[in-house]
Amino acid sequence: MTDKELMRLFDSMDIQERVDQMVQINVQFYESGEFSTGPAAGFGIEPEDARQAGTILNVIGAERTRHVQDLHMAGQKHRVPLMFMADIIHGYRTVFPIPLGQGAAFDPEAAEEAASIAASEAYASGLTVTFAPMADLARDARWGRCLESCGEDPYLNSLMAAAMVRGFQGANAGAPGKIAACVKHFAGYGAAEGGRDYAAVELSPRTLEEDYLPAYRAAVDAGSELVMCGFPTVDRVPCTGSRYLLTETLRNRWGFKGLVISDWASIDEMIAHGFAEDHRDAAHKAALAGVDIDMGTGSYSNNLASLAREDPAVARWIDEACLRVLRLKNKMDLFENPYRGADPEAEKRLHLCPAHRAKARELARKSFVLLENRDGILPLRKSSRVAHIGPYVDEKTVCGGWAVFNDDSDNVTVRQALEARSGVTSTVCLRGSYITDGYDLTLGQIAKPNITFSFDGARAQKLLDEAEAAAREAETVVLYLGEHPVFSGEGGSSSQIMLPECQLELLRRVRAVNENIVTVLFTGRPMDLRRVRELSKAVLCVWYPGTESGNAVLDVLYGDAEPGGRLSMSFPYTAGQSPLSYRELRTGRAPKELPDRFTSRYLDVPIGPMYPFGYGLTYTSFKYSAPTLSAPTLTEQTPITVSVTVENTGTRPGTELVQLYIGDNFASVARPGRELKGFTHVFLQPKEKKTVRFTIREDMLRFFDIDMRFKSEPGAFTAYVGANSATRNAVKFDLA
Ligand code: BGC
Repeated sequence: MTDKELMRLFDSMDIQERVDQMVQINVQFYESGEFSTGPAAGFGIEPEDARQAGTILNVIGAERTRHVQDLHMAGQKHRVPLMFMADIIHGYRTVFPIPLGQGAAFDPEAAEEAASIAASEAYASGLTVTFAPMADLARDARWGRCLESCGEDPYLNSLMAAAMVRGFQGANAGAPGKIAACVKHFAGYGAAEGGRDYAAVELSPRTLEEDYLPAYRAAVDAGSELVMCGFPTVDRVPCTGSRYLLTETLRNRWGFKGLVISDWASIDEMIAHGFAEDHRDAAHKAALAGVDIDMGTGSYSNNLASLAREDPAVARWIDEACLRVLRLKNKMDLFENPYRGADPEAEKRLHLCPAHRAKARELARKSFVLLENRDGILPLRKSSRVAHIGPYVDEKTVCGGWAVFNDDSDNVTVRQALEARSGVTSTVCLRGSYITDGYDLTLGQIAKPNITFSFDGARAQKLLDEAEAAAREAETVVLYLGEHPVFSGEGGSSSQIMLPECQLELLRRVRAVNENIVTVLFTGRPMDLRRVRELSKAVLCVWYPGTESGNAVLDVLYGDAEPGGRLSMSFPYTAGQSPLSYRELRTGRAPKELPDRFTSRYLDVPIGPMYPFGYGLTYTSFKYSAPTLSAPTLTEQTPITVSVTVENTGTRPGTELVQLYIGDNFASVARPGRELKGFTHVFLQPKEKKTVRFTIREDMLRFFDIDMRFKSEPGAFTAYVGANSATRNAVKFDLA
């Protein structure tokens, strides 16, 4: 409709009807196939407000969205259509690797393509908005939600967040096949203290600005239609009530024009934070801070209209927010076309189609990180006698958290992939151990409702005996180990990041009879791999690979594809080192070559990571020349380039990820030792060499100075060009 028509519609709505556009209910209200008032009491909302609500969570599927839209429109006084929202984080029916894995691919274009495929599938199922990308920076392996993040680096995360927004929305989120993006969780959620989900975030203003905000900003600059605020307090103020974050930063400084939605019930949670007195106060504070949509509570619908009578700022906010909701509905074409893309035929055509599966397989291979490969044990020879053993051999739950609409039966297991693979001989495939240790754990409704892990000691022994016998006969044993996905994701914080004891026992038993072990690690977080590294010759981290899991894993194990990934988060030796980042500030007492008690160090493990950010091996080897500069000094007007020559010194073709880091040697505030500023993939045949050049511009050297001005300072810098964040291949330059 035209904006004039939209304004006419808006003028015809009374204040409560406007407020109801600012309310998000969930699927429960329509689960019976009719609108039901039953869930209203638990939700804390008046049934009529739920009936008139502007948006809904988790109703998806062409038939369902069409049906619910019909029911809604029949009772909507102004025939304003519902907007359908859900979490399509790393795929809808075709699931791609978890975002931490996508980060490891260092390939924003591939992430954009994955998001675009997810959008096309979700569009066919009637979805309007996805709650993605998740742009929270993650440095703490204990935090279960690091799997939803692209990792620890602001530069990489920014490229990934922007790419995903472009993928979901294209040039116009309202176009056919596209859905609107909602970057989340603004801001700083990943820095939850102690890695405890929902815990407070305490960040200095500079760390917030330089490390945590850039990825959200990149998503906003890429045009994300919505922003979701986070659960925690940042600097003692809940994000949901933070005028500083939601209005001063997001709208005033960054120019964001779209919708801000709360996280699930986060308006009401301000009461528990001790920041709001009651529901009414919480609604008031959220509105004044800048929240347009209340997800999951009745606080807005019960209070905003009456608050508006007392506070003109609330009255203005209701009008602005309601108009923003109506405008997004209009942009998404819902007024003309309330079913939008919902089309059962398109669902059949697109969901899990071979082209989408092929892309999921390709991106999975690109995300796998080869952590160890002693004696060149990988890739496997097709003719060798390999025993494939481990709880992940038959595991169908391989997509990780927030693959809400994935059906396990669509996922390819290792066993299925082996059976379908031609030319692979002499294999045995065994479970070897339970996936987790001997206790029952009822995890509630996080991924699949009420998963219970049972454990039978006698059966566990039998599995181990079978594994040992098979390992004895094999040339090589591939062990498929890892955490079950319910142990990471939302509410998946953990003080330990080790494999379960039953899996470590399997590793020990196999190692006692066969030293040729390749461990394939399924995980949603960096793990403590001390035992795994010691007992395995090769370690391949495959994250949660998604729908094409088994196929992608075997492609890489058998050398049909390279392990393409590099770590998007540093792997510590132990959880006790968390949080950990290569970007940490320098200490006055850096560790020395020889042990010295009064330096910054742990007494029991090295101070640094076991595997640093950016690290990953290939099936070949590369040599770097020392970096050289086009000129020793750059100015604001004249950039310089830094070059290295990279040579494939191995016997197989391979792709190297060449990474550029820059360190500011001295400044008005202490700066990270180095920061990622560029990367590029180089494919080289054996003995082939290529020169790689990076441009260094003045704007790449800016930071928040002592007076919180974002600028560069003249002086000396160091450029590091190498294979990971720990590289020493460096050259100094100056900024004049
Ligand atoms: C999560 C969000 C998610 C929302 C809706 C919350 O619990 O924190 O990431 O988008 O639920 O499903």
